[in-house]
Amino acid sequence: MTKVGIDAIEVWSGKLRFDLPEEFAPVKGEDPAKYTKGLGLFASSFPDAYEDIVTMGANAAYRLMDRKDIAPEEVGRIDVATESSFDKSKPISTYVAGALEQVFDGNFTHANKGERKFACLSGTQALDDALNWILAGRNRGRGGLVITTDTALYERGDAGEATQGAGAVAMYVTEDPDLLELSSTQGIGSLDETDFLKPNQQFPSVDGKRSMQVYLARMREALEDFESVAGRTHPDDYRFIPFHTPFPGMVRKAARLGFRHMIRDTEIEEELADEIGRQPREEDYDDRDAYEEDILSYMEELTETEAYQEWYDRVIDPTLYISENVGNWYTSSVHIARVSALMHALEADIDLAGEKFLVGSYGSGAQAEIHEETILPGWKDEIRQNNVDEQLEARHDIDFGEYELVHDQHNLKKESELEPFTTPEGEFVFDGWGPMNERKYTYVE
Ligand code: CAA
Repeated sequence: MTKVGIDAIEVWSGKLRFDLPEEFAPVKGEDPAKYTKGLGLFASSFPDAYEDIVTMGANAAYRLMDRKDIAPEEVGRIDVATESSFDKSKPISTYVAGALEQVFDGNFTHANKGERKFACLSGTQALDDALNWILAGRNRGRGGLVITTDTALYERGDAGEATQGAGAVAMYVTEDPDLLELSSTQGIGSLDETDFLKPNQQFPSVDGKRSMQVYLARMREALEDFESVAGRTHPDDYRFIPFHTPFPGMVRKAARLGFRHMIRDTEIEEELADEIGRQPREEDYDDRDAYEEDILSYMEELTETEAYQEWYDRVIDPTLYISENVGNWYTSSVHIARVSALMHALEADIDLAGEKFLVGSYGSGAQAEIHEETILPGWKDEIRQNNVDEQLEARHDIDFGEYELVHDQHNLKKESELEPFTTPEGEFVFDGWGPMNERKYTYVE
């Protein structure tokens, strides 16, 4: 059967950096450790005055196409996944294609374009669409460009303000890819929820604490559904497990639930039994509260074991590096978790070819999706060419007062003319409004 998967991947960070423990915590009157230790976040990336979801997405895509020498005619579809769209009719992919056509000789006339929505999950759904399109034999040898892009801003004063971020990822899905093969096996956990939503509004209405419970519940259902087709999962099956990462603390919670689930009835549970006992089984209890109390104390002891900590450090922690330094990128968040793991493996000289990822995506509203990916021999050459560290390093630091101005600048309800902090070079920029209220873009040499 044809191998289909991700051939290339590029990350584009917003150009500004806002230090959370140093700049945000003191103004909020909070202990900086809430950020560094609790949420697991050090900084957020923010868009400069000339950046938005189109510039970031187009810049990631341009870098990818330029580096891989891909002509527009070789691209058969462009899907943009975002929850920060500013247009209810014209998809963001058309703005991105228009921008890219300014710099390429060819055009995307015959590329099928769309916009995908299911909160942070939609990037993974767009990958799915590209995979299905190729497996259905409709791609005519062409690849699918999947772009995830968001300015993840919250209302000023909302608890979510601590987890903001801005950035984009471009992925090229092809037959016979260099980087990763996508498997067709998939698990879904989905329920009509009102944990986080934007009914005709720019900034989300969020029930933060509940959103965390909903994330874990849907992820658990997705894992059970995945196992119903792929068979039982075991912690040693996967070299890395990238999760949707609104903030690393959320992944810490998901990881320990996943580990507990995966070790049930395995030799790992048996080996740990002397130290912490076997995990409580729901069927052994008449009283649900008593069961929950016991499971919580088992989980607390489990996370202190060497077995868990070794697994977490090896399989989960390497996925968090970018997120710790940029905050939540919504649709891109699980995809930068994957890139973080690959960057770590490159640096640590780990041989990944043939190893597997288990990828856990999530979108509020709510749905989780779990699938498997196999890392291909070309991964090193591909990841070696990314410039994530340079981008993160080059960001301009803003203080709290400047953060307030940047937030206003990107608030669609406010009139604001902010002077950029950085000078664009070799990239697309937002260039004002057209006669039909459309946003316009230019490439700056
Ligand atoms: N030292 C160490 N840890 C500390 C600390 C300190 N001094 N102070 C606080 N902490 C810990 C807390 O104990 C807590 O950790 P636990 O949950 O493990 O107990 C953590 O730091 C955060 O502290 P709070 O719970 O007090 O933080 P908060 O009330 O300000 O809000 C939040 C946290 C609810 C996640 C909020 O940031 C929020 O609403 N975020 C947006 C919603 C979100 O991201 N939800 C995630 C799931 S939904 C999703 O994934 C979709 C999406 O992308 C939005």
